[in-house]
Amino acid sequence: MKEDIIKNIVDNYETPAYVFDIKTLKSRISYLKASLPKNTKLCYAIKANTFIVKDIEEDVDRFEVCSNGEYEICKSKKINGNKILISGINKDDKLINRIISESDIRFFSIESMSQFEALKNQKENVKILIRITSGNQFGINEEECKKIIEKRALYPHIEIVGLQYFTGTQKNSIKVLKKELDYMDSLIEEIECNYNFKIKELEFGTGFPVHYFSNENFDEDSFLKEFSELLNNCKFKGNIILEIGRSMVASCGIYLTKVVDKKINKNERFAIVDGGINHLVYYGQFMAMKIPQMEIFPKRDNNDTEIWNICGSLCTINDILVKKIEVSNLQVGDIFIFKNTGAYCSTEGISLFLSRDLPQVLVNDINDNIKVVRKITPTYNLNM
Ligand SMILES: Cc1ncc(COP(=O)(O)O)c(C=O)c1O
Repeated sequence: MKEDIIKNIVDNYETPAYVFDIKTLKSRISYLKASLPKNTKLCYAIKANTFIVKDIEEDVDRFEVCSNGEYEICKSKKINGNKILISGINKDDKLINRIISESDIRFFSIESMSQFEALKNQKENVKILIRITSGNQFGINEEECKKIIEKRALYPHIEIVGLQYFTGTQKNSIKVLKKELDYMDSLIEEIECNYNFKIKELEFGTGFPVHYFSNENFDEDSFLKEFSELLNNCKFKGNIILEIGRSMVASCGIYLTKVVDKKINKNERFAIVDGGINHLVYYGQFMAMKIPQMEIFPKRDNNDTEIWNICGSLCTINDILVKKIEVSNLQVGDIFIFKNTGAYCSTEGISLFLSRDLPQVLVNDINDNIKVVRKITPTYNLNM
C-alpha cells in the first residue's frame, strides 16, 4: 500500500486496525489467473477473509461457503447465489432446508452420508460435489462416493457435478500436490470407466503457500509454473476449479498496532502495543521466534538501533508479536505495520481473552477511498 494512504490511515483512524486493500487484492487474483492454465477457474474459500467478498464477486468464479454464519454474510452482501457452493461439515437438514427455501443457492458439497440423505429428501433440483476424504473427518470414502454414483438413477433431482478434494493448507511441495492430483485423476478415470458416468468437475483445494517471514525464499512464479504443468498433464479434461483462500487474500492486508508503553526489565527492552496475539496469527509462527514482514511508521533510518521485544496487551507472557527486532529510536505512539495479514488473521486470534476490543476493519477501495467496515467493537458484553 502506498505511503500516503498509510499516512492517511495513521492520521485519521484508531488502532488496532486491519486494512484490506482492494487494488492489491484484484491484482493478486489477476496474477494467479495469469499464472495458471487458461481454463482453470478460481473458487474463493471465504473463511480466509469475509470482509472483501463483495469486492471480488466478479473476479472469481465461485465462493466456497462453509457455515451458517458465512451463508448469512453472503446473504447480507447479496452475493449471487449461482456463485455459491455450500460446503463443509455440520450442515444439517435444517440449514439445507432453510438455504433452499430462502435463496437460489442449489449447489452443495457432500461431506457425509447424512448430508447426502438431507439432499435426497429435497424436492428441488440440486447439484452436488462429492468430497473425497484424505483420511480425516472431512469428506467421505471412495466406496461411498462410488455407491452414490452407481445408484444415481434413484435420485433424478440430484445432479452429481463432480468431486472435491482438499487435504490441508500451506502446500509447499509440488511432489505432494502431484501425488494428490494423480490420485484424483486415477479415481476420476476409474469412476468414469466403471460407472459409465462423466465427471464434469474437479474442485481441488490446493492450499497454496504464503510466505510470511522475512528470511524465507519462495519463488512463486516457478511454483505456479510447475503446478500448472501438473494441471496440464492431468488426463481429466473437465473443469478444474481451484479452491483457494490464504494465497488469494493474504497479501491484501496489513495490521496496524500502536506502541502505548515501553520499558526496560532486567536489561531487556519491551514495547507494549495496543494489539496482540488476539488479533495477529501468522501460520507457522511459534512463540514469536520468526520475524514477520513488518515496518515501523514513521519510517526510520537504521542508525543507532536497539533490540526490542514487541508485546501485546494480554495478561500472558505468550503475548509477544516479535522477539528481538532492531528498531531505531522507538517511541510511544509509533505504529507497527504487519504485512500479509489479509487471510485468517482477523478471525483466528483468541479475540475474547481479557475482554479486549476487536480491532476496526478498514477497506481501501479501488478508488482509494477508505471505508470502515467494522468499528472498534467491545467484547466485554460477550463475557458476562
Ligand atoms: C475445504 C477447504 N477449502 C479451502 C480452504 C482454503 O485453504 P487455504 O486458505 O489454505 O487456501 C480450506 C481451509 O481450511 C478448506 O478447509
